[in-house]
Amino acid sequence: MVKISASILSKRNLDTINELNQLDIDYFHIDVMDGEFVSNISFSLEELNKFEGSFQKPLDVHLMVNNPDNYFETLKRLNTEYVTIHYEILKDEELLNKIKDYGFKCGISLNPQTPIESIYPYLQKIDLVLIMSVDPGYGGQPFLFNSLSRIKSLKEEINNQQVNVLVSIDGGINLINYQEISKYKPDLVVLGTSLIDSLQPNDLISKFREM
Ligand code: DX5
Ligand code: ZN
Repeated sequence: MVKISASILSKRNLDTINELNQLDIDYFHIDVMDGEFVSNISFSLEELNKFEGSFQKPLDVHLMVNNPDNYFETLKRLNTEYVTIHYEILKDEELLNKIKDYGFKCGISLNPQTPIESIYPYLQKIDLVLIMSVDPGYGGQPFLFNSLSRIKSLKEEINNQQVNVLVSIDGGINLINYQEISKYKPDLVVLGTSLIDSLQPNDLISKFREM
């Protein structure tokens, strides 16, 4: 069954967090943006600190930042399970080791324009690949359908290398396009706008899980 990670990018407040704490989600997807790697800014260190103790589901943290190191200490104090950095800022494996040393599971995300094969040399070292199905930076964008062939290729490579790596997909996912996406069997889906704007979020989540 697919795991669901809820992005609260558009409503970063305690009321929303508390509502989501009551829902059948697996993770909070925390979109951290530094105004450098992407032009938008979200979840500054101050904002993250403010939410310490609020998250009752583990965090799946998506660092759209140039300097991920700055965030690890703060994330340690939150309920963080996955820390995902971007392939586009990765210089060497030292950063991946550091994430592991902190006790986090380690993910790498790829922008839609980055060839999916770029990640293949790292698959032995990581726990999750986050495929961006929109350009990073904003919620509410339309899903890029060429992401589907990227899921397929990546899953084949994971199978070839016989590694235990989850495939997550992030951006523009709703119940309508998920009918097609689900055929490619991602392990985890990130839901932003479609979940946050839903009037019956529990029904929505059950429908995703049934597909
Ligand atoms: C985009 C973020 C996504 C986004 C998902 O930069 O990484 O996680 O918030 O939101 P929707 O589902 O609205 O695209
Ligand atoms: Zn994200």
